[in-house]
Amino acid sequence: MDKVCAIFGGSRGIGRAVAQVMAPKGYRLALVARDLRVAQAAASDLGGDHLAFSCDVAKEHDVQNTFEEMEKRLGPIRFLVNAAGINRDSLLVRTKTEEMVSQLHTNLLGSMLTCRAAVKTMIQQQGGSIVNVGSIIGLKGNSGQSVYSASKGGLVGFSRALAKEVARKKIRVNVIAPGFIHTDMTKHLKEEHFKKNIPLGRFGEAIEVAHAVVFLLESPYITGHVLVVDGGLQLTM
Ligand code: NAI
Repeated sequence: MDKVCAIFGGSRGIGRAVAQVMAPKGYRLALVARDLRVAQAAASDLGGDHLAFSCDVAKEHDVQNTFEEMEKRLGPIRFLVNAAGINRDSLLVRTKTEEMVSQLHTNLLGSMLTCRAAVKTMIQQQGGSIVNVGSIIGLKGNSGQSVYSASKGGLVGFSRALAKEVARKKIRVNVIAPGFIHTDMTKHLKEEHFKKNIPLGRFGEAIEVAHAVVFLLESPYITGHVLVVDGGLQLTM
């Protein structure tokens, strides 16, 4: 049977790098993002028989329809990576309610919706593996990122609870918590300013996170774990 993996946020950044690590390992991939054309370009760059899907993870119907479509075209989903995410940094007193809602819906509710849909299939398949992409900010907090931090911290609690809930069904759920990684999300940041707090002295690359994601995805005896990939940043926070 095909090893089918859905990667939400697979069109660019960390999600796309995960796809680049998985494609040569024989997985059949569904790259999911809001913009279908960008996801299609990422899928065709991989070569092989990978597919792209458009979905807003914050919308229940979108997620439901996407899972139906993915399973129709690729077969049952055995692996899930939730890398879709947004951040809207601002001090809490200046943060609009809509900005709170959009971050919580995309980063936390979105992963709950995709996990729920995936777990239903994984139970039928008698096994599966999920990696949710959190953040070091969800563990340590950061000024100007209280809402983002809540969304990522919530993802840790959710993932650990779900790991307990589905372990008997041979489904594993883990979290990756990256530090500063070179992607579109961080391109506005001045690396010079931040790197003095990073023991390894630099931002990470998406591919470095991707290898850790795939390690968790494939590790048969690890569940409910939070793996920090941050160049040592947490040691100084
Ligand atoms: P990115 O901005 O390059 O990629 C984000 C991806 O999420 C894109 O594919 C985008 O289409 C997708 N996405 C955003 N909102 C969506 C929605 N509503 N529905 C479906 N797809 C949506 O960012 P990056 O850096 O690759 O981020 C990936 C994950 O890693 C995010 O969850 C982010 O919070 C997390 N992260 C990133 C860090 C960094 O330094 N870049 C550090 C810690 C965590």
